[in-house]
Amino acid sequence: MHTRTLGSTGPRVSALGLGCMGMSALYGDADRAESIATIHAALEAGVTLLDTGDFYAMGHNEMLIGEALRSAPADRREQALLSVKFGALRDPDGGWSGYDGRPAAVKNFAAYSLQRLGVDHIDVYRIARADPDVPIEETVGAIAELVEKGYVRHIGLSEVGAETIRRAAATAPIADLQIEYSLISRAIEDEILPTTRELGIGITAYGVLSRGLISGHFTGDRQLAPNDFRAHSPRFQGDNLRHNLTLVEALRKVAEAKGVSVAQIAIAWVLARGEDIVPLVGARTRERLAESLGALDVTLEQDDLAAIEQAVPAGAAAGDRYPAPQMAHLGTKE
Ligand SMILES: NC(=O)c1ccc[n+]([C@@H]2O[C@H](COP(=O)([O-])OP(=O)(O)OC[C@H]3O[C@@H](n4cnc5c(N)ncnc54)[C@H](OP(=O)(O)O)[C@@H]3O)[C@@H](O)[C@H]2O)c1
Repeated sequence: MHTRTLGSTGPRVSALGLGCMGMSALYGDADRAESIATIHAALEAGVTLLDTGDFYAMGHNEMLIGEALRSAPADRREQALLSVKFGALRDPDGGWSGYDGRPAAVKNFAAYSLQRLGVDHIDVYRIARADPDVPIEETVGAIAELVEKGYVRHIGLSEVGAETIRRAAATAPIADLQIEYSLISRAIEDEILPTTRELGIGITAYGVLSRGLISGHFTGDRQLAPNDFRAHSPRFQGDNLRHNLTLVEALRKVAEAKGVSVAQIAIAWVLARGEDIVPLVGARTRERLAESLGALDVTLEQDDLAAIEQAVPAGAAAGDRYPAPQMAHLGTKE
């Protein structure tokens, strides 16, 4: 397994991480046994970084990972590095009701996560979105106290802008910023990526397949359950979807010429953007995981990169990456 380091202070991790969100939430129903088998297969293949959030089906995702770790061979369990997001507030009917980054809340979230995961520390801990009512210094300061006590190893950030990154980094060492980055979500390139690079902060990139949209497997006639995020995502609607799938077909030609799959070329493109970037793939079956891991063997030459850029130029996607109310909580405008 290829490895990369998360920023100048973070851990050495597998060059691809496994994002476990879709195993519990946001992409419709998932198969529990297959989810656990996928986590086991990832560990077996040498994946070390597992990403979750305490709000992914209200603790379900953490308990799933805890179960997968307990049933994995001891050496595989020990290699796992857990990246956990907290702070998003939910209600019993599944609604989202804001963020809580107050120091007492941070410690409370962590206490519950440790219990649900069945571990004595979290490797990278981060608030999912900055709480607009709490200065980031207070939230990061509370995580720093958890680091001092040994409950957390590293501090991360998620979906924040350059100014917040600077303020957080002035408070405590920051290992990585988790943020959406893919061929069709390149907003971080203007200001955020130069800032993280200047400060020695790594990137864990999510949505590298734009939630399946640019995987090569998504079709225009796919029926999405009401509890599937994609049923409400602007990029997956009507004309936007039709346009975005034409980009995928252009990308497919490049992938086919190279003898790889669309998903592999999309993941390989993110990997090629810099050693400081670790893509999180959201595979929830062993088959998709195997396909994703194949991207690690894809080397993109200059002419491949030019062909990809021509097929999917920066800014070519139609539709925002989140519905309007959620865009307001992001560190990027697009
Ligand atoms: N910090 C944040 O704000 C934030 C936000 C979102 C996610 N995340 C984290 O990032 C992780 C990855 O995000 P994501 O799940 O949206 O990413 P993604 O990898 O772009 O999308 C994953 C979806 O793509 C589809 N897919 C098709 N082919 C695939 C392949 N070969 N490998 C993997 N997936 C394939 C699957 O959908 P089907 O199974 O339906 O076909 C899968 O559920 C999440 O699990 C979560 O841990 C963080």
